[in-house]
Amino acid sequence: MALPQDFLQELKLRCNIEDVISQYVQLKRAGSNLVGCCPFHSEKTPSFTVFRNNENFYCFGCGAGGDVITFVMKMENVDYMTAIEHLAARAGLTIPEDPKNAVMRVNKDRYFEMNKLAARFFYDSLIDPKNDDALKYITSRGITLQTIKRFGIGYADTSWDSLTGYLMSKGYEKEEIKNNFLAGISSKTGRAFDYFRNRIMFPIFDLSGRVIAFGGRIIGDEKPKYLNSSDTYVFKKSRNLYALNHAKNNTDSSLILCEGYMDVVALQQAGFINAVATLGTALTSEQTRIISRYASTVYLCYDSDEAGQRATKRAIDMLSDVGVKVQVVKIEGAKDPDEYIKKYGKTSFEKLLKGSNGHIEYALGNISAKYNVNVAEQKLQYLDECCTMLSGVFSEIEREIFIQKITEKTGISADIIRHEIKKRQKRNFEKNRRDAIKEDINKSIGYGDRVNADSAKNLATVKKEENLLGLLLLRPEYLDLASIKEIVSEDIFRCEFSKKVWREIVKNKEAENEGKSTFGEEFTPEEMGRIIQMRLNREKLSNNSEDVALELANTLKQEAKSQTDTDGSDDSFLKLIEELKKSKK
Ligand code: GTP
Ligand code: MN
Repeated sequence: MALPQDFLQELKLRCNIEDVISQYVQLKRAGSNLVGCCPFHSEKTPSFTVFRNNENFYCFGCGAGGDVITFVMKMENVDYMTAIEHLAARAGLTIPEDPKNAVMRVNKDRYFEMNKLAARFFYDSLIDPKNDDALKYITSRGITLQTIKRFGIGYADTSWDSLTGYLMSKGYEKEEIKNNFLAGISSKTGRAFDYFRNRIMFPIFDLSGRVIAFGGRIIGDEKPKYLNSSDTYVFKKSRNLYALNHAKNNTDSSLILCEGYMDVVALQQAGFINAVATLGTALTSEQTRIISRYASTVYLCYDSDEAGQRATKRAIDMLSDVGVKVQVVKIEGAKDPDEYIKKYGKTSFEKLLKGSNGHIEYALGNISAKYNVNVAEQKLQYLDECCTMLSGVFSEIEREIFIQKITEKTGISADIIRHEIKKRQKRNFEKNRRDAIKEDINKSIGYGDRVNADSAKNLATVKKEENLLGLLLLRPEYLDLASIKEIVSEDIFRCEFSKKVWREIVKNKEAENEGKSTFGEEFTPEEMGRIIQMRLNREKLSNNSEDVALELANTLKQEAKSQTDTDGSDDSFLKLIEELKKSKK
């Protein structure tokens, strides 16, 4: 997908990296650079750095890095083209038409349009008197006509091809309908058939109000109970939440997170317009990041069954990671929020929210439920688990509040509990330190390198390769030197990742791009981070002359040559690594 270089340069000029990142991250000056807390991992001291002179960012904590386009890709969870669209809109630029891009974009619009037509079609079916049973079903579940309209709820009838026939009459090909997860194509007859049949249809909207997918609930007992759209060109399940288009208008910076469509619809109908749900999957980290943009507090309102409680624990950890405060809502006397609100009404649910527990209280409650503290043995176990849990709580004030509660419950003095917690904190600290050292060792011998998978096999070489590449990134003009041209080619690099970086440096040089304009198209933010690190490492050194480049290149070339000559002389080393791996297991 080749966008003209002058366009990309203009785009980056107008979308200054500092301005764009400042919208998401609070940046502070540090010398000629800017630093802030990384938006991609949780940290308390800033290691996220924006280099103003070469328009890059890099996080020394998690290794993510790149240019302004990579940043938007990672922050908004979008692909390269969508990031470009986003930035172009911001800068008021029109993306030049490339025949290939044009096809892709027209298609997306066609898919949005198809979804809109389908949603209308389903809605019309629901209010069609001949489908009276469907309307009866949904109203029997307490949903009003007004709510049906507000959510665009509809009905997919029992026919095998009513929707497909309709969409084809509007000019859609059956393949397109299939791509949009609205139809399948029979391998025997080649005919298209509707996926959703005899189902109440919940359209899923994006934040701009476009229909991007559907969830369909069967009327009756057939399986599966719910059928949800898979990912399509216009829908990524892991990046969307049901009803966020409504909930985002809520003003108190909180969201209620539930499991199902019906829960959300029932809650919103009762006036809790901040209710949202995941789309038939477990909460994803992308969703938590989106949530953190709209809410500082999340009321977790999962089903009261065991699966719901397991999901609650996981969600607490994930939401805490993005700095969102969690209140756990305990649904008692009903299996889910929908049932609860029907049984006990809006005011009771309001009370549930008010009486919800913070995550520490929730965890303590779970421990408490397991033990009878009147039995000495169990009291010990109870105390043990409580102290372990509290040793992970950062705030001393928070810890104190709960220490008091445990004292009341067990009659054990606060001092003793405090002392136990301190012991565990010390143990955790030691363990973290050991883990960090272990990780350093593993990194230095190349395990767990996700960016450069070959590094374990070519330990001795990898540093030199990165050194040379870093230097060439810093001084691309060296590529014009006859002496360098003569020695350096793809063949002197042994790691696939190094080869790819080399090819990209050459490509950019040929296109006369100063810097790294097209890198973001080829590399992930983690890979970009590594590339920037290579360059930074070189930048820190005082001698970056041509001679250094030549020397590095020569060494690599010779090593590559002796490697092919002896064919696998590194074997002994490989064996050693294998043995090391085994002994670790
Ligand atoms: P009702 O029974 O209509 O009240 O629905 P519910 O929302 O209470 O259903 P449940 O708690 O069983 O499921 C919660 C969510 O999980 C649903 O909204 C769906 O998104 C998803 N889900 C439930 N059943 C299925 C299924 O059979 N297949 C898939 N893919 N998702 C399901
Ligand atoms: Mn339900």
